[in-house]
Order: sequence, then C-alpha cells, then structure tokens
Amino acid sequence: MSNRTLTMIKPDAMKNGFSGAILDMIINAGFRIVALKQTKLSTEKAGEFYAVHKERPFYGELVDFMSSGVIIAAILEKENAVADFRTLIGATNPANADEGTIRKKYATSLGENAVHGSDSDENAKIEGDFFFSALEKF
Ligand code: CMP
Repeated sequence: MSNRTLTMIKPDAMKNGFSGAILDMIINAGFRIVALKQTKLSTEKAGEFYAVHKERPFYGELVDFMSSGVIIAAILEKENAVADFRTLIGATNPANADEGTIRKKYATSLGENAVHGSDSDENAKIEGDFFFSALEKF
C-alpha cells in the first residue's frame, strides 16, 4: 500500500476563496505536503488528466470546468493516504457527503465538487507524476 495521494483544489473552490480553509483541513487531518503548486490546466491537459472518463457523458463538461480557472495541485502523504483522503473529502456528489467533509462544506455540485482525490494507489502515482517532477517532491 502506498502512502501518497494526489489532490486538486478545483476552480470552484479557488474562485469561492476556500483554498486556505481546505489546505488547513488537509494539514489538520495529518497529511504532509510532499509537493504543491498553483496552476491552470489547458483543455488538452485537463482532457489528458481525466482521459479515463473519456466515454462518459459528462467528460466535456468536466474538461471545460477543470480548465476554466486556476487550481492547486498537491501530493499528500499519510499512512493509508488514498482511503483516508477520500474519507476526508466525502462523496463525489456533495449532496451525499457526510457532515464535516471538505465537499459537504465547500463543494457546489456534483460537477463542481471543490476537490479531487486519487481513487487508487496506482492512479495516485500516475496523477502525481502528471503534475510534479522528481525535483519538486520533498
Ligand atoms: P473527481 O473525483 O475529480 O473525478 C471525476 C469527476 O467527474 C468527479 O470528481 C466529478 O466532479 C465529475 N463527475 C462525476 N460524475 C459527474 C456527472 N454525472 N456530471 C458531471 N460531473 C461528474
């Protein structure tokens, strides 16, 4: 089991001014920041990141939204990082997210759901390498 996961604070949460509060929740939950950057995805790069969803009906909407504004990407470290982070962020649809989770507090809708978290150790590695070189991880 890997101890790392990849998160993005999405354009909705950035525009709504929630990035500081979200990072505070992440750090307070015991995650160590291995790498972090503010960036903006082109439609091409957003499409590449979410290529696994290419055949889904919401793919175009997802790519447009994820390239619509600045994001923060970060690699996080903690024992059982992937599962623990998914617990911290809550269900994909904020309407179904538990009280106290990041999505319950800060997400807008299913499509604009404030944060991303890797869904497996394998994808955490792929997604971390998508944003960060070896020189940017500490
Ligand atoms: P995320 O965890 O970043 O991974 C894929 C994203 O697709 C997901 O969060 C949602 O924001 C988005 N998504 C999933 N289902 C839908 C849907 N039915 N309509 C729009 N966006 C969706």
